[in-house]
Amino acid sequence: MIIYTPPKPAEHIPVIDLAPSLSGDRDGMQSVAWEIHKACRDTGFFYVKNHGVPEELALAQLEWAGRFFALPVDEKLKLDFKSSPRRLGYEPFLRQVLDEGSAPDLKESYMYRQAHVEGGTEDPTNQWPDNLPGFREQATAYRRAVSGLALHLMRCVARSLDLPNGYFDDGFQSASASVRLLRYPPQADTGTRNQLGAGAHTDWGALTILLQDDCGGLEVRNAAGDWIRAMPIPGTFVINLGDMMRRWTNDVYHSTLHRVLNNVSGRDRYSVATFNGPHESYLVECVPSCRPVDQAPLYEPCTAGEHTRQMAAKTYDMAAL
Ligand code: OGA
Ligand code: NI
Repeated sequence: MIIYTPPKPAEHIPVIDLAPSLSGDRDGMQSVAWEIHKACRDTGFFYVKNHGVPEELALAQLEWAGRFFALPVDEKLKLDFKSSPRRLGYEPFLRQVLDEGSAPDLKESYMYRQAHVEGGTEDPTNQWPDNLPGFREQATAYRRAVSGLALHLMRCVARSLDLPNGYFDDGFQSASASVRLLRYPPQADTGTRNQLGAGAHTDWGALTILLQDDCGGLEVRNAAGDWIRAMPIPGTFVINLGDMMRRWTNDVYHSTLHRVLNNVSGRDRYSVATFNGPHESYLVECVPSCRPVDQAPLYEPCTAGEHTRQMAAKTYDMAAL
């Protein structure tokens, strides 16, 4: 049982070294799990270093994002996300409103979805570009490496909640990751109607693994309500928890608001967000160590698929404004 205590506002986002947890040593796993526990109760955001994903593969993925978005617009529009029920493919500029009531986000994106473990079937609604040889191979290699990290992190998270390491394995072994490449073109300083690169939002799934280039702009809201910067740190990923984690932990862990400021660096900003959650029919319900003693958990159990559909309906309907 993990007794609830209110979080203290973090002033910075911790960098957690995953090496001890990857060595197979029990104490190493426990010490990393404890760091993750503190970060998840504080801000719900942390960096990881020594994460096992080769640096060249990550840097190459950012470069390939650049090559993809440099395709002629009619090539990109052949992959329009509207023809995929899961919004896979190309999402043009100004299509999503992540922060209700704001003007649409100043970003374009491309998303693909693949099973975490080898041999899993590829999502039939993926839309790969015809005229970019090597893109799919790189994207697959990147996803494979990040899937390994996602499965490892979910084990660390299980440990951090005083659950068996493999507690979430059932949900994740047969699940897929959605990888979203993002481009934020350079902007003038301020936008009207609170227009940002990406409006303030929480992520929907369980755990997001974000790779960002060196432009900066990502901000995170801490428990005191202050926005703090998630500066680019070479060789790291930014990890954040999504809304499903709140259901699992009865709000002991946070899914934290974050946003991307207008990109005033004078060049394109690229990032790659990998969204990880359990398979669609998995029932997300309060885990034993977070169940309140005398009352029902805050959230009704819900399938992962239903949860994601509700969130998508909310943000895309608003882009029609
Ligand atoms: C997201 C997100 C941040 C970024 O795609 O959900 O928060 O830096 N991206 O692109
Ligand atoms: Ni996000």
